[in-house]
Amino acid sequence: MCGIVGYSGTQSAAPILLNGLKRLEYRGYDSAGLALVSPEGIRVEKCEGKVVNLVNQLGDFDKVPSLGGATAGIAHTRWATHGPPTTVNAHPHAARPAGEEGNRVALVHNGIIENYKALKARLEADGRGFVSETDTEVLAHLVDSFYEGDLVKAVTTALNQVEGTFGIACVAIDEPGVLVVARRGSPIVIGLGEDETLVASDAAAILRYTRQVIYLDDNDVARIEGPKVDICSLDAMPVTRESTQIDWSDDAAEKGGYAHYMLKEIFEQPDSIWNTIRGRMDSDRGNSVLSGLNVQPRDLAELHRVLLIGCGTSLNAGLVGEYAIEDFAGIPAEVEQAAEFRYRNPIVGSKDLVLAISQSGETADTLAAVREAVDKGALVAGLVNVVGSTIARETGRGIYLHAGPEISVASTKAFTSQVSCLLMIALKFARAARMSRERGVRFVKEIEAIPDQVREVLKQNDHIAKIAENYIKAESAFYIGRGYMYPVALEGALKIKEISYIHAEAFHAAELKHGSIALLTEELPIIALVPDGPGKDKTLSNVAECRARGSKVLLVATEGDDEVNDYGDDIIRIPAAPLHAAVIPATVALQLFAYHVARLRGCPIDQPRNLAKSVTVE
Ligand code: F6R
Repeated sequence: MCGIVGYSGTQSAAPILLNGLKRLEYRGYDSAGLALVSPEGIRVEKCEGKVVNLVNQLGDFDKVPSLGGATAGIAHTRWATHGPPTTVNAHPHAARPAGEEGNRVALVHNGIIENYKALKARLEADGRGFVSETDTEVLAHLVDSFYEGDLVKAVTTALNQVEGTFGIACVAIDEPGVLVVARRGSPIVIGLGEDETLVASDAAAILRYTRQVIYLDDNDVARIEGPKVDICSLDAMPVTRESTQIDWSDDAAEKGGYAHYMLKEIFEQPDSIWNTIRGRMDSDRGNSVLSGLNVQPRDLAELHRVLLIGCGTSLNAGLVGEYAIEDFAGIPAEVEQAAEFRYRNPIVGSKDLVLAISQSGETADTLAAVREAVDKGALVAGLVNVVGSTIARETGRGIYLHAGPEISVASTKAFTSQVSCLLMIALKFARAARMSRERGVRFVKEIEAIPDQVREVLKQNDHIAKIAENYIKAESAFYIGRGYMYPVALEGALKIKEISYIHAEAFHAAELKHGSIALLTEELPIIALVPDGPGKDKTLSNVAECRARGSKVLLVATEGDDEVNDYGDDIIRIPAAPLHAAVIPATVALQLFAYHVARLRGCPIDQPRNLAKSVTVE
C-alpha cells in the first residue's frame, strides 16, 4: 500500500528521496517522511498529508548539513493501517535503547507485523518507550534491540521473530552509508546505478535514475552501500539474484499532458491493448500464441476446469474469461474472489488450471490464493501486468499484460488488457477443442479490431462529458447488463464508485426485479448495456420497467441501432462487434463516463479517498 524509497551513493540523498516519494504518492498518501544519515546523525523529518508538505517542511535543505549533506537515507509515504494518519505515526520510525538520546536506527515498512503487540510488551518490559501506535515502531525497536554495529545481523535477528508481512528499508547510526532492505510479502526492488544504489517498493520511484534492477524474493535481506549490494537469506546464507532491465521509461509513467493519470490511461488503451495482443496472434492458423502459458493442446484435453481468481477489477475481467472459455472452448470455467478461494478450502487439483489475474502482481489475497492452488497441486498461471512482481514469479507461467505502468488508482487499461488476454486464452483453448480454423481466423480479426473500436469510443469523449452533466447529482445508480455485458456493468459500477463516490450497484438485468427494483425513483439513474446481440431485447424490457418508474436511463448501444432510441434519455454508441469483443469498447465508454462524472463533481480522481493502488494487506 505504502511507498518506500531509499538511496545510498555520492549525491545528496534528500532530493532523490523526495522525487521518488512523489512518484509513489499514488500508492498511499496520508503522510510522508524521510530519515537521512550523515556524520551529524540520523535526522528524521515527517508530516501529515502530501509529499509537498514534507518538501515545504525541509525548506532550503541544501544549506543544512544534516539534510543536504546526507548521501544515504530512506523515505516513505504511508497509507494508515495501524493508528491514524498523524505525523507521529508516519514513517520512518526511529529507535534507541531506554534512557539514550538521539536515533540509533530508523526504519520504513510496508505490510503488517501481526505479532507486534507481543513484541511491544516484551520491549516495554525492557524499558523501551513508544511514541506511536504503529507496528512499525515496534519493528524499529526490535531491530535496535539487536543492534551492535552490524545492521544486517540486527535486521535478520529481528525479522526471524516477526510474524506477518514486510518490505522494509533501514539505516543505523554507526553505518552511515548503509541501507538494509528486506521483504516478505511486500515488494522491494533495488535499482543499480554507477556509483549509487536506489531501493523502492515500486520501480516507478527509481526509473529516472536507473532501469537496471534486482527484485528481492521473500525472505531476502540486502545490504547496500553505495554501488555494492550483498543479498542473503533470513538465515544469513548468501544468495544471488539476477538483475533485469526495465523497459518502461520514466516518461511512460508521467501524465503526458492529460489532466489525470486515469484519463491518460483511458486514452492509452488502443495502444495498450495492441501491446497486449501484438505478436500473440496467428492469423493464418486462426489461433493465439501464448508461449508463457506453457500449456499444450494435448494438456487441454485433460483439463477438467479453469478457475479464474482475482480481486476488484481483475475479478470482473475474470468473469469475462469465464464466459468466453465456456462459450468458445467448452471447458467448465468458474470465477472466484481470491479472498474467498484462499480460506474456504476449495476443491482443486491437478486437472484444474487456476488463472490468477492481477495488475500489480502483489495483491495479498490473490497471492495467497495462488499459493493455496499451488499447494493443492493445480496448474497455476498468472495474468499480470507488473513484470517481476510476486505473483508473476510464483506462478512461474503465464502471460504478461504489457499494458505499461498503471498509475491511476482506478484501474482502466489493465482491465482491457486482461480481457484481451482472456479472449486470446479462450481462442487457444477453443482451437484445441472444437473451434474450426475458419472460426479461429475470424476470432483473431475480432480481437485485432478492438483497438480501433476503442479509438471510436474515445472520439466521443466530449459527447460523453456532456452526458455526464446529467448524472452528477445522483446519489445512487444501477448498472444493468446480461451475458458478456454483466461484467461490464460490474466494472462500470466499480469505476463510478471509486472515483465519483456515487453509490452504484451492478445487476444482471433480470435480477433487478427480484427485490432491488423497490429502490427505483426518479433520482436513481439506470445505466444499461444494450449492444446489439443476444440478450439485448430482454435488457431493453428491463429498461422499460425502470423507465416506467421514472428512472433516467443512459444506454450503451451499438452505432446505428435505432431500435434502442426510445429507451434511453442518453445514449453512448460503440461500434458493432460480437459481444465478447464489445466488452472492451463498452467498458471504455463507462470509464469515460465515470471519469467525467467524477471530474464534474470535483473529486480527486487519481487519489480517491481510502484507496491505494496495490492492496498488499488482507
Ligand atoms: C479498481 C482496482 C482494484 C484492483 C484490485 C486488484 O479500479 O484497481 O479493484 O483491481 O485491488 O488489484 P490487482 O489487479 O493489482 O491484483
